[in-house]
Amino acid sequence: MKHLAIVPGDGIGKEVIDVGLKVLDAVSEVSSFDYDGELFDIGSDRYLSTGELLTQEDIDSLRKKDAIYFGAIGDPRVKPGILEQGVLLKMRAVFDQYINLRPVTSWFPFVPLKREVPFDIHFLRENTEDFYMGAGGTFNGSKKDAHVKVKREMYELEMELRTKSSNNDDFAFEIGLLSRKGITRFAEYAFNYAKAKGHKKVTLVDKANVCTHIYGMQREIFEAKAKEHGMGLDYMFVDAMAMAMIVRPETFGTVAVPNLFGDILTDLGSQLQGGLGMGGSGNINPKGVSMFEPIHGSAPDIAGQKKANPVAAILAGEMMLKNIGYPKEGEMLRKAVRYCLDNQLTTADLGGKLNTDAVGEAVCKFILGQKK
Ligand code: NAD
Ligand code: IPM
Ligand code: MN
Repeated sequence: MKHLAIVPGDGIGKEVIDVGLKVLDAVSEVSSFDYDGELFDIGSDRYLSTGELLTQEDIDSLRKKDAIYFGAIGDPRVKPGILEQGVLLKMRAVFDQYINLRPVTSWFPFVPLKREVPFDIHFLRENTEDFYMGAGGTFNGSKKDAHVKVKREMYELEMELRTKSSNNDDFAFEIGLLSRKGITRFAEYAFNYAKAKGHKKVTLVDKANVCTHIYGMQREIFEAKAKEHGMGLDYMFVDAMAMAMIVRPETFGTVAVPNLFGDILTDLGSQLQGGLGMGGSGNINPKGVSMFEPIHGSAPDIAGQKKANPVAAILAGEMMLKNIGYPKEGEMLRKAVRYCLDNQLTTADLGGKLNTDAVGEAVCKFILGQKK
């Protein structure tokens, strides 16, 4: 019996996790997989009524689970950043989920590229550092000093910024931080991952030609790790990578990418698979509790209308099952998705006529049909 935390969150997060749970129920009917799910009401409604984001009580309960199944967070009634930083980014930091695995696979016929070449890119997005530290502030002529404090599992850091400007303008800053320890574990994970997948190299995406300090140190560490593992290492600047993903996606296997660029490239990657409704992701702590979620957000523009494509959440469920020791069961979800795509059992974003729940029902029907 696996103990899962269910955090539907906001907007279409609720709709797609609802489907995801029905799919897990179907899997448990036809296999040895069994689970209990504890529902957490973390999200905008709770925040607006109580002011609570991710509480210590939430953290203590979530930590005891085998995995967290997460929908999405974000609500137009709440200023951007409050829920995102206070819930999602805090979860990733508190549970030290330092790898965000985001596969980008050619789900034909929904790949919007002209050439029909199969691809399978495994994005490993670093998930706790870079420009996601919340290490920022403001200053001006009269407010001259800025104090930055960040906390991660690996360290607590305080920085004092003494400022002096030639005018009285207002300034705002956001510090991108990488630590040797953080990069080292990221690189170690990436090379082991590539090896396990039979890839001969890791592609490291950065902007070392501009952000020379952080990405310079990152290159140095990746280079040493490549030697240590006897593996190849390629570099791509992120701007060229965005282009190459369109022109030659089949040439990439394991791709390591820092947090902010990884966020952007994997939305592009989702679209290469047919749309944001197609991308699943896993926030992974190899020694702790991991969290599985679609790449997309709460999509306020379609929330409450049952238009959301639940495939991303189902593929996140596949990753979760594989991560907690049920690879065959995970594969069932993937096959069920393939079956739906092959039979036009899709939502409108993929040109189909079904709503969110109907796609879920089709997936469940396929899975239940696997019963021996
Ligand atoms: P979004 O991913 O929510 O939506 C972008 C576009 O894609 C929208 O037009 C939406 O309708 C469409 N879309 C997304 N998922 C879809 C699906 N499953 N099926 C069909 N169409 C889908 O991004 P956004 O609009 O920039 O952000 C909305 C809110 O979500 C913001 O508050 C943002 O901060 C938050 N967000 C949260 C997460 C997360 O929780 N992991 C991820 C991204 C954005
Ligand atoms: C994602 C989202 C988050 C991110 C936001 C909501 C904080 O866009 O999971 O891709 O930037 O990581
Ligand atoms: Mn994103």
